[in-house]
Amino acid sequence: MRQFVLAANWKMNKTPVETAAFFQTFLSGFSPSPGRQTVFFVPALDITTAIGATNGRGVGIGTQNIHFEKKGAFTGENSAEAAKAAGCEWTLVGHSERRSLFGETDLITAKKMKLALECGLKPMLCVGESLDERTAGETMKVVERQLTVGLEAMTAADWASVTIAYEPVWAIGTGKVATPEQASEVHTAIRAWLERRAGAEVAAAMPILYGGSAKPENFREIASQKNIDGFLVGGASLEADSFLKFCAW
Ligand code: 13P
Repeated sequence: MRQFVLAANWKMNKTPVETAAFFQTFLSGFSPSPGRQTVFFVPALDITTAIGATNGRGVGIGTQNIHFEKKGAFTGENSAEAAKAAGCEWTLVGHSERRSLFGETDLITAKKMKLALECGLKPMLCVGESLDERTAGETMKVVERQLTVGLEAMTAADWASVTIAYEPVWAIGTGKVATPEQASEVHTAIRAWLERRAGAEVAAAMPILYGGSAKPENFREIASQKNIDGFLVGGASLEADSFLKFCAW
């Protein structure tokens, strides 16, 4: 049985004090359940606070980005080794904002995937097409390229630690959510790709999350579709009550 994963991506929001206050409210309404994972990708400067606040409460903490080298002269970057040592279990890789605003290429995501695993972090690879690419009928071409390159170095032992998030770029932060059919179509194609790449067992076990304007009002219909195994939630994860609605589903 594959896991259902509810992941919050806070992006560049919340101070340590706001982080502590969030978890106080969130944890008063949260109980972990079997077959489910709850993860918060918090800003690097909030990681220590988030780990301290959630210790032993069945919630995983992740970093939103890592550098692809283990250490060195990379001013301002996040070390995967340090994230792990600080208590992170997870990292995002290849979020569309990293790709479009910070020049992250497919080759860079491939290096980050490998290093994350080497450092004991569970990488969540984000893929998704722009509006132009969708309009041009290139959605699956783009997503398959991102998967092929980003996951190129995965070995049989790696797959169990990998998660995929499908986030159509045109739906991120726009309030324009993919229809349940659009999401399910791409998720089903991603699972078929995985089956070809890594076999039926890996494909069946892989959580594939949807992200892009997921809200308490619209996620249930998407969640009920085939091949949707969770959500990567931006804006609607910033308020505890709102994200609790996803977790209580
Ligand atoms: P929104 O939920 O704010 O659209 O953000 C989605 C996202 O980018 C999560 O990684």
